[in-house]
Amino acid sequence: MKKPIGFFDSGIGGLSILNSLVEKLPNESFIYLSDNKNCPYGNKSHKEITNFSLKNSKKLIELNCKMIIVACNTATTNCINLLREKIPVPIIGIEPGIRPAILNTKTKNIGVLATEKTLESKLFNSTSKDNIKDGIKVHEQIGYRLVNEIEKGINGNILIENYLKKYLSPMIKNNIDYLVLGCTHYNFLEEKINKILSKNVKIVDTISPVTNHVIKTLKSLKIENKNRSNNSIDIIYNGNKLSKEFMKTNYQISYLDF
Ligand code: DGL
Repeated sequence: MKKPIGFFDSGIGGLSILNSLVEKLPNESFIYLSDNKNCPYGNKSHKEITNFSLKNSKKLIELNCKMIIVACNTATTNCINLLREKIPVPIIGIEPGIRPAILNTKTKNIGVLATEKTLESKLFNSTSKDNIKDGIKVHEQIGYRLVNEIEKGINGNILIENYLKKYLSPMIKNNIDYLVLGCTHYNFLEEKINKILSKNVKIVDTISPVTNHVIKTLKSLKIENKNRSNNSIDIIYNGNKLSKEFMKTNYQISYLDF
């Protein structure tokens, strides 16, 4: 039987990464856990985030996954090292892409929009502090309530636009030329964010670097699938309901109490 690649997130945010990998890796099977019963993670304690992440990873191991993608910046920045210690398959994490912004900024001001617990985490702070040089300022903003609204659906959701205007306006005043999206849910807001920011501001998401990293890792560990037969893409959720807004038609969606 084909071993799938496992994913987890607090909800639908990690689908932004899954959708990219499904396109690039047509020979692979995927299992995506949406822990939406516990969504959002971003305002929970470090301990809770760690426990959710361990629970999700153990479930993916039970489901025979050969690799786990932590499709959540909050879980990655809070407990990726512990997951790598405890879980016996390769673990790929997702962190805010602050490095390219720091390397390329001309205005020396960059913005980071992320969850409370990502911005507070040791991992994020060591990564961003290690890279800061030449008087570059990092303007951090917590995306309060954005994840809750994205889970409800983004089309015609006026609250999302209002929150974005509020969160981005201090960054615009501070003349940022890069905005780093530090939460996989926010990847779905790029179009809305572009309408608020001027054309000179570039958005940094981590979809392509993570996709490339996964492809390279599968190859180097020689665990990639070589043929297309018996592929499946399973989306499993544990909350009340799941928005289908960002799902492709061949995804099989089911409920499981995990
Ligand atoms: N998609 C998540 C992240 O990248 C989870 C956010 C949340 O649940 O608060 O951080």
